[in-house]
Amino acid sequence: MHSIIIFASGAGSNAQAIIDYFKDNNDAKVSLIVSNKKDAGVLNIAAKENIESLLINKKELDDATFVDRLQALKPSLIVLAGFLLKIPDVIIKTFPEKIINIHPSLLPKYGGKGMYGQHVHQAVLENKEIESGITIHYVNEVYDNGGKILQAYCPVLSNDTPANLAERIHQLEHFYYPRSINFLLKHM
Ligand code: GRF
Repeated sequence: MHSIIIFASGAGSNAQAIIDYFKDNNDAKVSLIVSNKKDAGVLNIAAKENIESLLINKKELDDATFVDRLQALKPSLIVLAGFLLKIPDVIIKTFPEKIINIHPSLLPKYGGKGMYGQHVHQAVLENKEIESGITIHYVNEVYDNGGKILQAYCPVLSNDTPANLAERIHQLEHFYYPRSINFLLKHM
């Protein structure tokens, strides 16, 4: 049985899509949800779904105790789904090629520090892009720079607002993130 650990700071719609996708799967399950925000929607999702959750702060993220706790679960993948803190090097070194992230743009465009959520979609619209999309990639020591696993595209329409572009992007994420995870697990 593959163990998946999700890290998320926000509403958790991607976490929900991943949980739903693997619900009837006997080969993989979400074993832990980690968040750094006590009022994050993703923690309510964990409670509702009976999945163990853990609230941590920036300092604890670096602690040996936290790394040990992750290791004890023997995760096949650590899945970042809207996690806003930088992953410390000790975690990256402990779980090589096991940490993945989803970014709401076609990297390398609109990536890097400060490029998250509405900031990304605002910039895409300001630059009058005709397409945007998502990038699922491995996490390494540099923000949004690890090897790509999948990119999916969607159009940017002339009357788009950051909010409705975000909605279209979320739909791509909810479809492709669980399936990319499944693909990676099957090829381990
Ligand atoms: C997603 O758009 C993802 O691309 C980004 O953070 C957002 C998280 O949304 N990294 P949600 O909390 O899963 O709804």
